[in-house]
Amino acid sequence: MAATLPPARFPHHHLLGIESLTPPEINLLLDLADDFVEHGRRTDKKLGHLRGLTQINLFFESSTRTRTSFELAGKRLGADVVNMSVSNSAIKKGETLIDTALTLNAMRPDVLVVRHPDSGAVALLARHVNCAVINGGDGSHEHPTQALLDALTIRRRRGRIEGLLVVICGDILHSRVARSNILLMTAMGARVRLVAPKTLLPATLASYGAELCQDMEQGLDGADIVMMLRLQTERMQGSFVPSVREYFHLYGLTYEKLARAKPDALIMHPGPMNRGVEIDGRVADDIHRSAILDQVELGVAVRMACLDILTRSLRSAP
Ligand code: NCD
Repeated sequence: MAATLPPARFPHHHLLGIESLTPPEINLLLDLADDFVEHGRRTDKKLGHLRGLTQINLFFESSTRTRTSFELAGKRLGADVVNMSVSNSAIKKGETLIDTALTLNAMRPDVLVVRHPDSGAVALLARHVNCAVINGGDGSHEHPTQALLDALTIRRRRGRIEGLLVVICGDILHSRVARSNILLMTAMGARVRLVAPKTLLPATLASYGAELCQDMEQGLDGADIVMMLRLQTERMQGSFVPSVREYFHLYGLTYEKLARAKPDALIMHPGPMNRGVEIDGRVADDIHRSAILDQVELGVAVRMACLDILTRSLRSAP
């Protein structure tokens, strides 16, 4: 793999959202990630791209898979990785966030991976540090590496993204995964349909080029890809669905509802998954239909690609 890249091919200092990426830049990241997938399957997984560099994972919100995935990605590339979890109760917005940024910046990290419960907080923090910042999820705004790993999963399973019908079902309102995926999938030429009860389906998303549908069976009609999302109760104030039982009945993915999708429709979920709420456990575990564990594997490769590309300007040519 080349150690340098013409800057014009990826002119960004940070990765804050899919919104700022062009389709060639998305493809570049996916191509790079594809190469890293094979490395992750070897016994010796270690590469030296980030040797000598320091990566700090700064998580203001709890996370298991995303933090572990970024940690493994950094370590597989040879970086020194430090994890910092900041509990919700310790956060006072505004100055405290900027103070945290300034303090960490003084320790001279090369990459910061930041997750924060407030939309826009990661971009705010990025303005106060010198190093590259990757958004690991900000509020209900964006989660770019999740959309990239979803895109890689689809591209590897289907050979393309263009022309596919991607149906995203569940708590769209609170989901940064949905937002990043709508941006990415439409940019890459897929059709996106959003399925949710009215209370969880913001009408504004139609302006992003997505179709909106409140009926799950109609919504699944002809789907190539079915992405399920959990109810993000931690972001809800008040009740958005009558009951979990009712929700599963109307919006839970079962084989019966899935019959409306294409026979080879791929089932995806960013996790964490709530079996019996948004998805029947048997559907999630169906090795012929579900790509859920592929998504987890490919997540590490995608994060390696993002870390690699954002630190290239720090490394000298061979
Ligand atoms: C998602 C997130 O944090 O936005 N999870 C993840 O990154 N794997 C989705 C979710 O929490 O429901």
